[in-house]
Amino acid sequence: MEEIRRAWWKEAAVYQIYPRSFCDSNGDGVGDLNGIISKLDYLQNLGADALWLNPIYESPNVDNGYDISDYRAILAEFGTMADFERLLDEVHRRGMRLIMDLVVNHTSDRHEWFIASRADRAGPMRDFYIWKDPAPGGGPPNNWGGCFGGSAWTYDGGTGQYYLHLFTPEQPDLNWENPAVRDAVFDMMDFWFKKGIDGFRMDVISLISKAGYADGPLRPDGLYGDYTPQCANGPRVHEYLREMNRRVLSRYDCLTVGENAAVTPELACQYAGFDSHELNMVFQFELMDVDGGESRKWLRNYSWRLTDIKRVMTRWQTLLDGRAWNALFWGNHDQPRPVSRFGDDSTEENRVRSAKMLALCLYLMQGTPYIYQGEELGMTNRRFESIDEINDVYTRNAYREQTGRLGVSAEEMLRAVNYISREHARTPMHWDAGPNAGFTAGRPWIPLNPNYTRINAASQVDDPNSVYNFYRRLLALRRSSGALLYGHYELLLPESEEIYAYLRRLNGEEILVVCNFTARSAPFMLPEGWDGAGLLLSNYETPPSGGVLRPFEAAALGR
Ligand code: GLC
Ligand code: CA
Repeated sequence: MEEIRRAWWKEAAVYQIYPRSFCDSNGDGVGDLNGIISKLDYLQNLGADALWLNPIYESPNVDNGYDISDYRAILAEFGTMADFERLLDEVHRRGMRLIMDLVVNHTSDRHEWFIASRADRAGPMRDFYIWKDPAPGGGPPNNWGGCFGGSAWTYDGGTGQYYLHLFTPEQPDLNWENPAVRDAVFDMMDFWFKKGIDGFRMDVISLISKAGYADGPLRPDGLYGDYTPQCANGPRVHEYLREMNRRVLSRYDCLTVGENAAVTPELACQYAGFDSHELNMVFQFELMDVDGGESRKWLRNYSWRLTDIKRVMTRWQTLLDGRAWNALFWGNHDQPRPVSRFGDDSTEENRVRSAKMLALCLYLMQGTPYIYQGEELGMTNRRFESIDEINDVYTRNAYREQTGRLGVSAEEMLRAVNYISREHARTPMHWDAGPNAGFTAGRPWIPLNPNYTRINAASQVDDPNSVYNFYRRLLALRRSSGALLYGHYELLLPESEEIYAYLRRLNGEEILVVCNFTARSAPFMLPEGWDGAGLLLSNYETPPSGGVLRPFEAAALGR
């Protein structure tokens, strides 16, 4: 028998909640903690083992909570610390766990640390952030652009220096070189662990160590102003994470997942190697880049090839096997809705079929599934007629920059926004067909997708053929099988642009997964010995047969 290294976080399925858009309990149009509490039975029934909440801390909300002004306080719109403690209890009472978002590459510019840092060049807090003198000509220290547009540097007239912010100017980057910053962050993490939380998802954690900052020489300009080569996977990032692990994480039985821009499977084995004492797993973005084209950001290819998806996933599945652990996701709060992007939302039948197919294909691979709210209903992108309908700072800034300085036509940019904007993920959750989809009794903070009358939880929970109930069965199946949890992965038919087929194998148990990614029937013969194998799960009533897979057919067979 092959030894397996079991862990609860490997066997868990994580459900991601974007609190602002999940459920509003008091009619102010903003989702909140009591709203989440009211839906815990729904999540438990789905089979969620852990919930990851996007940031719920005090924040001026320039970037919807990713600009934190107090790490130890709950945003008033979301509730109180007492509400949080009740939520945590209620989650635990149902046998689930709670994962919080850790945003420590940067804070809000309203955080008391930054206020003190900015106030006094000679003060003790100055080095909490990254300050540099102007370049000889008086401009910013280098040409780095912020991820959300503009320069990554903002000048502070009061003290005559620039501070670094890889995101908006309201999100100054912390200086991890300073041991006092690390102490403060680790202390804060302890504060939440002592309350009883079960782990952290770590925002842009691969960016915390900047080459050359804070005391080294200034680094050169980036090509086209891109800071990634100097900031992603920087020189001390592993050292910092090992320190975090030693001082905090190793003392708790927790789940940790890093959001790692520019990570490769080789690097993932360092960040999340079974013996590297850093994180449990990382989110990789190669899958999210298969439709990226040259720019990887806005002006994309608007399409992808199945062989690229297979190439990426197979590399991650095989290179991490036995060494590190995968995090599996088709979407999150920064991505459009998976069924619109990788499936087909053009007809109701295709939407339902392809939503199930995508889930079966990805979540039966080796790794921990992350399901983004609404995905289990097959929620779709919403159509935006104009940039004025968009709330998100990233999308709005990019639109301005692309249609202004970069000369892209408004039409082209609106197409890009409709294809890839993260605004799609942030439209409120569809609970029922009533006013505002049951999300709020008031005026929602952001418009709903009008298709909630057709796509909603109330109509799916009791329908055995719904996407929701398919997710339930899928998660139950995964939990019940050693081969699905821990087995090795082997790709079949690598050249096919229509069919994704793979095997999972462990200690004599074998599972075959077959998925048709197209809206047409595709020729397919079961591999030898698989005729008559047991059907474990399918999105059709009958097992694959007759030498074809039907449109968006997905099945798992076992022997
Ligand atoms: C991460 C978050 C994103 C946020 C950014 C800055 O990418 O997922 O939502 O805007 O970091 O914190
Ligand atoms: Ca509310």
